[in-house]
Amino acid sequence: MQGRFHTFHTKALMYTSYEDYEATAKWLLPQTEQRPKVAIICGSGLGGLAEKLENRDVIPYRDIPNFPQTTVEGHQGQLVFGTLEGHQCVCMQGRFHTYEGFDVYQVTYPVRVFSLLGVRTLVVTNAAGGLNSSFSVGDIMLIKDHINMPGLVGNNPLCGPNDDRFGVRFPCMSDAYDRDLMALAQQTAEEQGIGAFLQQGVYCMVGGPTYESIAEGRALRTLGADAVGMSTALEVVVARHCGLRVLGFSLITNKVVMSDDDSTLKANHAEVLVACNNRAQDLQGLVRGILAQMPLDPEDL
Ligand code: HPA
Repeated sequence: MQGRFHTFHTKALMYTSYEDYEATAKWLLPQTEQRPKVAIICGSGLGGLAEKLENRDVIPYRDIPNFPQTTVEGHQGQLVFGTLEGHQCVCMQGRFHTYEGFDVYQVTYPVRVFSLLGVRTLVVTNAAGGLNSSFSVGDIMLIKDHINMPGLVGNNPLCGPNDDRFGVRFPCMSDAYDRDLMALAQQTAEEQGIGAFLQQGVYCMVGGPTYESIAEGRALRTLGADAVGMSTALEVVVARHCGLRVLGFSLITNKVVMSDDDSTLKANHAEVLVACNNRAQDLQGLVRGILAQMPLDPEDL
């Protein structure tokens, strides 16, 4: 009996403790005067938004206690604190992916730290492959729902002992993407004249790093996904668990190969980065426009 208990205890030690997140938050606070209410996770090629922040404090991940380090080309690895359209923000320039070898607890580590810093709203962006045939490369998809493929098969960042200080054991995900922020995004895109490029859809997270086979692309479409990528859902699950509002965007950087006829259209990382550069400015402008119209937290007034 004691042996079995011991086995459980050893496994439990693998999970990050509240004190670890708290230690990181406490280390970060004196590094900046910013007290962010908004966190922005910049996806592949979308880190430019962090350059637009005013009164910036830049902190490389390598200096931050307990933070993982990024390894992907096109991703930097730093937190940028600053003000954007009147909102105190923290941007992740570079995020963590399971395909880099990080576990789901490392991938989502920053989100809980942000919540302890006082963040109330999370904006997530990513590069994604289009599954919906009506989407074009360069479209921006407002994420209305997700399929957390790693989570569905048991690799969920909320697996393990639940810490009630963050949230409940069985959190709801049917309202993960905030409807009011989605409406504001739609309205802002129309005002900015990019409504024609703004789609809405379901994002499916897969583990990667392989792009989808034809059969996989077709299967994901059949499951109801409009776009597929290798990030975001895990961070959103943890953000919702600790009560953050979430707004998400996918930049459609390529069309997923869906039949033998178009199998010469091979997905590749270079193509993804080119599409990002072309439309990234519009997505950055859209996020800024949304923040400009988003009410400030009453505590900031
Ligand atoms: N599949 C998965 N992830 C991606 C893709 C894709 O086609 N494009 C950009 N990220």
